Amino acid sequence: MIEYRNIRIALLGAGSVGSQVAGLLIEHRDELAARVGTGLDLVGIAVRDPQRPRDPRIPEALYTTDAESLILGADIVIELMGGLEPARELLLLAMNSGADVITANKALLATHGPELFAAAEQVGAQLYYEAAVGGAIPIIRPLRDSLAGDRVERILGIVNGTTNYILDRMHSQGDSVQEALAEAQRLGYAEADPTADVEGFDAAQKAAILASLAFHTAVPLEAVHREGILGITLEQVAAAQRSGFVIKLLAVCERLTDAERGIDGVSARGHPALVPAAHPLASVHGANNAVFLQAEAAGSLMFYGAGAGGLETASAVLGDVVSAARRHVVGGPGVAESTHADLPALPIAMVTTRYQIGMEVLDRPGVLAQIALVLSDHGVSVETVQQTAAGAEAAAPAATRVIGTHAATEAALAATVHALADSEVVSAVTSVLRVEGVS
Ligand code: HSE
Repeated sequence: MIEYRNIRIALLGAGSVGSQVAGLLIEHRDELAARVGTGLDLVGIAVRDPQRPRDPRIPEALYTTDAESLILGADIVIELMGGLEPARELLLLAMNSGADVITANKALLATHGPELFAAAEQVGAQLYYEAAVGGAIPIIRPLRDSLAGDRVERILGIVNGTTNYILDRMHSQGDSVQEALAEAQRLGYAEADPTADVEGFDAAQKAAILASLAFHTAVPLEAVHREGILGITLEQVAAAQRSGFVIKLLAVCERLTDAERGIDGVSARGHPALVPAAHPLASVHGANNAVFLQAEAAGSLMFYGAGAGGLETASAVLGDVVSAARRHVVGGPGVAESTHADLPALPIAMVTTRYQIGMEVLDRPGVLAQIALVLSDHGVSVETVQQTAAGAEAAAPAATRVIGTHAATEAALAATVHALADSEVVSAVTSVLRVEGVS
């Protein structure tokens, strides 16, 4: 019997995930070889600064600054350097030179996915990215393979651990958003520059990736509506708790069809939302991630676990390494992106959702009727009303009122909020949050 030669693996980047991937490739060498059917040789690790102190498990001779030469001698290239360039160029080089590629780079996939997938298809290379969404959680393969025969209808994902940690702390400890962010930074969840997480860029990128896979359609990042969490207040958290909700930053991906309105497309968005306290996503605490998915035949599924962390994310990368390497040895069908549906990515104005609108109102007879009139003028109906009287120190009789709406189009809801802000009985609209996870 002919023995397959060892497979040469090049690693680009030796940060927290990269060094764990290298460490596991070295420590689990024999077991991985048994699973693959041949040895996996880590032939080099491209880094910017080879002098930096590194993981003691990794021989220093593996480090190089010459990423291109390393790539040209590899069968599998793992990109864990992050950023758009030179990651994009190096992955294209790797595929053009005959290597399969693995990446955890969600920004790169969300921005240049179509170009990279087209290049992979053109040259017959495999492009794997299980670690790009949800860290250790298997979600790419379930969407691409296990659910390939079903119709995904909707995804609600907690896909950013840093913001989940911050919001969870606001709920459980009463920290302000800034206090919770400082704690997240102290614990190493949030970066020194936390913009990508707290402004929702990271969640939006992951929403684009999930929606593209789920709906067999290339969803461009520009089509993903994005809102961050820095505007979330403790008053909103308290109001959410009073009405049986928690606030979560969600990636929401939906298949939208409405023959009457002539709608047939997909929507992807990332924003804070109210989730019922009894919903499975409400019990996702700390920096954990979870993806709750509804499919026509499968019904509801939830995937839960560590969304970040060097070792945890390395698990997902190693899964891709074994898949790619086994294909070298035993062959078999490869992975390819399926974009056959080619549906339009619809703007948020066309989405149907529910709002909770918090406002300061005059506390006098007829106010509720006037507010209800504003809503009905915009085709929005009231589902719930809560009122809290202001303290005795208020200059005029005033109250905080929270209106929960039935489902309506975003366009109608946004116009309603404007009209309420202009209404003479409303002194201020203090909070507008979408409600998700209510059937
Ligand atoms: N910064 C991300 C998070 C982890 O906080 O979840 C990597 O995607």
